[in-house]
Amino acid sequence: MRIFLDTANIDQIRHAAKLGIISGVTTNPTLVAREEAVDFKAAILEICSLVPGPVSAEVLSLEPEGMIEEARQLSSWAPNIVVKIPVSEAGLEAVSVLSRENIKTNLTLCFSVNQALLGALVGATYVSPFVGRLDDIGHQGMEVVAEAVEIFHHYALSTQVIAASLRHPLHIIAAAKAGAHIATVPYNVLMQMIRHPLTDIGITRFAEDWKKVAKK
Ligand code: G3P
Repeated sequence: MRIFLDTANIDQIRHAAKLGIISGVTTNPTLVAREEAVDFKAAILEICSLVPGPVSAEVLSLEPEGMIEEARQLSSWAPNIVVKIPVSEAGLEAVSVLSRENIKTNLTLCFSVNQALLGALVGATYVSPFVGRLDDIGHQGMEVVAEAVEIFHHYALSTQVIAASLRHPLHIIAAAKAGAHIATVPYNVLMQMIRHPLTDIGITRFAEDWKKVAKK
């Protein structure tokens, strides 16, 4: 399973990229709006320069024509741009046109296996089930990931499943066990994945013990 960073924060992306962990980034309008830099194009271009892998940037239009036009624009900005499009009739129509133009797409706001399957059938490069938001309303969000992975495998569909809206480290383990191709992870969760108190205690103790030997 590959790990993408789910943020538009440049410092977080720079740090995670330096660690060598992430192979892509996903943004959405909420994440971009949270940052001070309001120049959307400049922000996306900077992210694309920091991460060699796929960078998802979302369209804002609600009609297929507008989505397609925006997607063509976005995909011309950098070779690693993936156009994020919400699941809807308009979104599916747009993805089916864009896939024939070899424009990479990420079908987002996906909350059911049926939506994921339709995304694969219209040629989406990725589909993004929102696990945390389903958990929030009492559903098993990760089941959508697991079932989509199983169905895509069954029919040899090339669409990859991005487990999205992940909120804590256990979500990442569950995504990996469910066979998600990618987990897109918030920065704070990525840091939680790295840290363990026993590791910190162990590092301190090794250093102290070594100092004692070095003094002899
Ligand atoms: O990847 C989707 C993500 O940005 C949404 O997360 O926490 O707003 O449900 P959340």
